[in-house]
Amino acid sequence: MLSKLIVGITLRMPRWFVRWVSRRYVAGTTLDDAVSVMKRLESEGACFTIDVLGEEISSMDEAQYFLDEYVRVMNAIVEHKLDSNLSIKPTAFGLLIDKEKGMANIESLVRQAAAHDMFVRLDMEDHRVTTETIQVVLDLHQKGLTNVGTVLQGRLHRTPNDIENVALAIGPNADYRICKGIYLEPEDIAYTTRGDIRSKTNEAIRMALEHGAYVGIASHDVPVVDYTLKTLDELNMGPMNTDPRKNAGPERNGKGPGYEFQMLLGVRGPMRRKLTKAGHRTRVYIPYGEKWYEYSIRRLQENPTIGLQIAKAFLMPWTNRP
Ligand code: FDA
Repeated sequence: MLSKLIVGITLRMPRWFVRWVSRRYVAGTTLDDAVSVMKRLESEGACFTIDVLGEEISSMDEAQYFLDEYVRVMNAIVEHKLDSNLSIKPTAFGLLIDKEKGMANIESLVRQAAAHDMFVRLDMEDHRVTTETIQVVLDLHQKGLTNVGTVLQGRLHRTPNDIENVALAIGPNADYRICKGIYLEPEDIAYTTRGDIRSKTNEAIRMALEHGAYVGIASHDVPVVDYTLKTLDELNMGPMNTDPRKNAGPERNGKGPGYEFQMLLGVRGPMRRKLTKAGHRTRVYIPYGEKWYEYSIRRLQENPTIGLQIAKAFLMPWTNRP
């Protein structure tokens, strides 16, 4: 109820107010803004992944915009010698409009990124595209492009099967981000209570690690981070160690020993810095783009609990500092 009320109030607020609230979570409107934020956070020992914000597209011309913009991002990463991945939304590349062309767009970017030894992460969107997104990754690996991976959402019933299937298909080259999942999915396909989502996310993290994948743990939730640290300890994985898993993939250039922690820009900075200080690799997700307003509003509408988290960060700043 409270979350919905916060979203309702936000929708009536002037644009400048929403911009003021979101400036902590969005690097800015331009690529230069994103580069400035990364240069600032570099000194904290973080590495990055960049997300060009956008709304759901309705034509393949718009998909071309995303491809072009991500090529600009890639060149900026190289020019400024930043340690950064690319995070893309498959639907923004046209996957739901023209599957073949969408796939070709994604392949084009992944191929160009491979030439710079750069990793491309396919963000996971809602359940309409889960199967296709995983399939795109498997197809690209088949074509020899191993610098690509996706995201699996702890809340989905299917995730343990997906971990098994990806392991069978690409074995040690599997590289995924595990998160709770931001989309409120129906209960016939997803866990819906906070406790279940947390415990299933934890199970997915352990399972992915045990299957030898490179795992990005994307959570700001203290019990999830603590569970991961305990699991890493049990698997003899951790800072300064070489990856001890017999089924682990090849040494990934510039990546951690089999895992890394990932957090959103502006969220739980002290926890991220503490993990970095303890020797864990930490990556910050950096969104930027002109469509920051539409994007922020849509996210709030899709998942009103974000409104509550943002309000909490303002009213109780000690719970969540940038
Ligand atoms: P939880 O929601 O319990 O948050 C713990 C605490 O963190 C909150 O109490 C609050 O203080 C703070 N917090 C968390 N999220 C916040 C926010 N947005 N704003 C302000 N404070 C916040 N999902 C998806 O479906 N597909 C994807 O591809 C990705 N990609 C992704 C990348 C990265 C790097 C991260 C960190 C997350 C994602 N997610 C995602 C989102 C993810 O699925 C999940 O919805 C959020 O991370 C919130 O879940 P937590 O595990 O952080 O716990």
